Amino acid sequence: MKTVLSGIRSTGHLHLGNYFGALRNFTQLQHQAKCYFFIADLHSLTTHPKPDDFHSNVRIILSEYLASGLDPEKSTLFVQSSVPEVSELFVLLNMLTYKGELERTASFKDKVRQNPQNVNAGLLTYPVLMAADILVHRADWVPVGKDQEQHLEITRLLARRFNKIYNTPVFPEPEAYNFGGNLVKIPGLDGTGKMGKSEGNGIYLVDDEKTITKKVMRAVTDSGPQTPGSPMSQEIVNLFTILSVVSDPQTTAYFKDQYNNCTIRYGDLKKQLAADICKHTLPIKERIEEIYHDDTYLKYVIEKGTAEARASAQATMQLVREAVGFKAF
Ligand code: TRP
Repeated sequence: MKTVLSGIRSTGHLHLGNYFGALRNFTQLQHQAKCYFFIADLHSLTTHPKPDDFHSNVRIILSEYLASGLDPEKSTLFVQSSVPEVSELFVLLNMLTYKGELERTASFKDKVRQNPQNVNAGLLTYPVLMAADILVHRADWVPVGKDQEQHLEITRLLARRFNKIYNTPVFPEPEAYNFGGNLVKIPGLDGTGKMGKSEGNGIYLVDDEKTITKKVMRAVTDSGPQTPGSPMSQEIVNLFTILSVVSDPQTTAYFKDQYNNCTIRYGDLKKQLAADICKHTLPIKERIEEIYHDDTYLKYVIEKGTAEARASAQATMQLVREAVGFKAF
């Protein structure tokens, strides 16, 4: 059986893009592979979040994961900082990584440009920590978006380099896992790129009906189709993309027809879209709130997941320590 590993930083709430792009596929994948889902709280320290918010952010994501259908009986759910083996492997991998390789990473260069006053070493070595996350479980598949592919490339490089230097095949080279035909990219509501946390163009799983409706009604549109068959602007394509994910095919076809014969009223389309988004997310929102307040359940999930993750990580670290030449006296 293949091993899958996916990590998410503990900043902000999950949005529709996370749900339809990844989580819904994870709920199926967990029946077909050994899945590790973890919250990358160490990675989020690069931006120095306030200690007071730190735990609740982790708790929010965990509740959102569980409410979306990740099953602790099937998958291993854990928090990165509770598995110290990750940090140990991180140190060892740092010795095999060259400064130039990290400085060339696109994500690092972006961060330097965006935040020149906070170019800390944790940002530079961010991909090494990510490699440790993946390699400590000897994962085969890592579902990643475009922005993380270069990090996975570094992970593969480090796996090969470790195996070569220590002349033993400890690590498999992980592959980027994509959901093939099931992959949906949810666009944002501002008419531009994909839905994201930072852009403020997203709908969150915890949004209530009023908020969702307000956000959808404010989504960017154009002045309407002028002649039958005229091409659709990107903003309208985006609304139809979301509609096709949350509504039934007849509904989408109905509005497409209206668009094509120029009778469409975007207000009606948006009302439908908001209602259908709510059908998916409001039950999840309710579950998130229940789970978030269920100390006993969260403790159970995390204790189970941490024990499983540490057992897997410790088995790898035993091989790693032997390979490196650490020996007991
Ligand atoms: N860097 C990833 C992101 O920002 C999160 C992450 C950390 C991750 N470690 C990982 C993803 C290991 C996959 C595997 O989205």
